[in-house]
Amino acid sequence: MSLFVMSMSLGFLSWEMISQDTSHFGMCIFENRGSDKAWWSWGLGEGSALLHPDSRSHPRSLEKSAWRAFKESQCHHMLKHLHNGARITVQMPPAIEGHWVSTGCEVRSGPEFITRSYRFYHNNTFKAYQFYYAGNRCTSPTYTLIIRGKIRLRQASWIIRGGTEADYQLHNVQVICHTEVVAERLSQLVNRTCPGFVPPGGTWLQDMPYDLWREEDGCECTRAVNFAMHELQLLRVEKQYLQHHLDRLVEELFLGDIHTDASQRTFYRPSSYQPPLQNAKNHDHACIACRIIHRSDEHRPPLLPPKADLTVGLHGEWVSQRCEVRPEVLFLTRHFIFHDNNNTWEGHYYHYSDPVCKHPTFTIYAKGRYSRGVHSSRVLGGTEFVFKVNHMKVTPMDAATASLLNVFNGNECGAEGSWQVGVQQDVTHTNGCVALGIKLPHTEYEIFKMEQDARGRYLLFNGQRPSDGSSPDRPEKRATSYQMPLVQCASSVPRAEDFSEDHRAHQYGSQAPGRSPRPRFLAVLICLLTLLHWNVLR
Ligand SMILES: *[C@@H]1O[C@H](CO)[C@@H](O)[C@H](O)[C@H]1NC(C)=O
Ligand SMILES: *[C@@H]1O[C@H](CO)[C@@H](O)[C@H](O)[C@H]1NC(C)=O
Ligand SMILES: *[C@@H]1O[C@H](CO)[C@@H](O)[C@H](O)[C@H]1NC(C)=O
Repeated sequence: MSLFVMSMSLGFLSWEMISQDTSHFGMCIFENRGSDKAWWSWGLGEGSALLHPDSRSHPRSLEKSAWRAFKESQCHHMLKHLHNGARITVQMPPAIEGHWVSTGCEVRSGPEFITRSYRFYHNNTFKAYQFYYAGNRCTSPTYTLIIRGKIRLRQASWIIRGGTEADYQLHNVQVICHTEVVAERLSQLVNRTCPGFVPPGGTWLQDMPYDLWREEDGCECTRAVNFAMHELQLLRVEKQYLQHHLDRLVEELFLGDIHTDASQRTFYRPSSYQPPLQNAKNHDHACIACRIIHRSDEHRPPLLPPKADLTVGLHGEWVSQRCEVRPEVLFLTRHFIFHDNNNTWEGHYYHYSDPVCKHPTFTIYAKGRYSRGVHSSRVLGGTEFVFKVNHMKVTPMDAATASLLNVFNGNECGAEGSWQVGVQQDVTHTNGCVALGIKLPHTEYEIFKMEQDARGRYLLFNGQRPSDGSSPDRPEKRATSYQMPLVQCASSVPRAEDFSEDHRAHQYGSQAPGRSPRPRFLAVLICLLTLLHWNVLR
């Protein structure tokens, strides 16, 4: 039992866990392309269930439930796809040579708005651009850091399974300002931070590179811009065939995360990842930002296309897009349902022991209420929310977790000694679960933003969990950066016009249900499923 010690702090939208059990983890290198077929038959199965005779007298509710089943199937399909490892190959050791770029405007704690363009060469040197901006759309560049150095891959990480540890050495860091105002301010800041660094009367000029770090003579003032390159200490490369274009290979480079407390950044060793960079050669062609960033340099910083901020509309269902990694070793996928009619939410958290989310450890179902706050004054483009958790159910999914839960006595986590693999228990009456570090009721201060991806799907970003493992349970602990986005898999219940009278009149004609020719509605549904199926396999 001592093998599996978890100490979790509740984060409503994620839990952090420290697991000392390394025995059943390992490096995972595999590929899976078989999951779509299963869904196809499952989807059809759902379709046939529509024709249950009892439902015939209520065609309208039947249609609604069919619609719901269809949308649920989308959400579950997307999760199932992830649980099955999607089409992802993890490269070990990672081949990082090449040119890697951001896929959009990234938000770092502080906040800082940046895009990145990193080149790694065959001789182990690298040249990295970090482009900084004034706003959350990355349309108005302020300054660019040009970072040169050397990187050495070491070994597979024992802390973050699936990751590779690396050492780096900086040769040179330069800064170049894109406006006169920024040049003046930044040179003043550097002059203040490192007295004597800027020669007398040497106020900086726009578009001129200045050294912040020179290996040769030890000159160094990167702390003025709170610079650290520790993200290079943890790497992971994934190759993935795009769902809709199987011939289209996308390569992604995950680098280490940045501490959520900006003042800790220069001391922090990464324990999870930032949003991935894409290989400029093998990127998703729908990624316009990738192309713009790819073409840019210190004299022509990327200007991303201006977009309006979307109003955050939580209503609907949202799922993870990938197997997510949390600091201190936790792999999970998430599925959320928000009801904006009564401001309640439900969340499913599927936890795994491995970086491709294949081996489940436990799942949590939580629900509660939420309220919408104001636009964030601190983080441009963010909207504040407060979330409360007041109900929770836990299901151990492997023997190790079940026995861990059974070790706890009394009223600390469900009924004492009763946990069994695969059997769910309500832990609301024990005020949560001490074993998992969860105490109910619980409140969290959140920040959200919404975006559309290159394919027009809605993405929902919520706050990055504090890197120190604590919970954002006070307003001042609210995040200033985001975690990996969820994608919308179902929007809302069908509107009346989705099911016209005409539609209904023809649907349940003289044909006995379940026999061919199929009722028209089912035909439409099957057509939709076929379309998806077809897209998926293309
Ligand atoms: C490494 O390769 C790059 C690109 O080919 C080159 O610009 C750089 O000078 C090389 N550095 C060393 C130390 O050889
Ligand atoms: C740097 O700071 C000193 C005072 O500490 C000031 O005299 C000098 O003009 C400053 N230089 C620049 C370039 O701002
Ligand atoms: C809130 O609304 C949803 C959907 O209409 C419903 O399923 C749920 O039971 C409601 N919750 C509460 C607490 O009223």
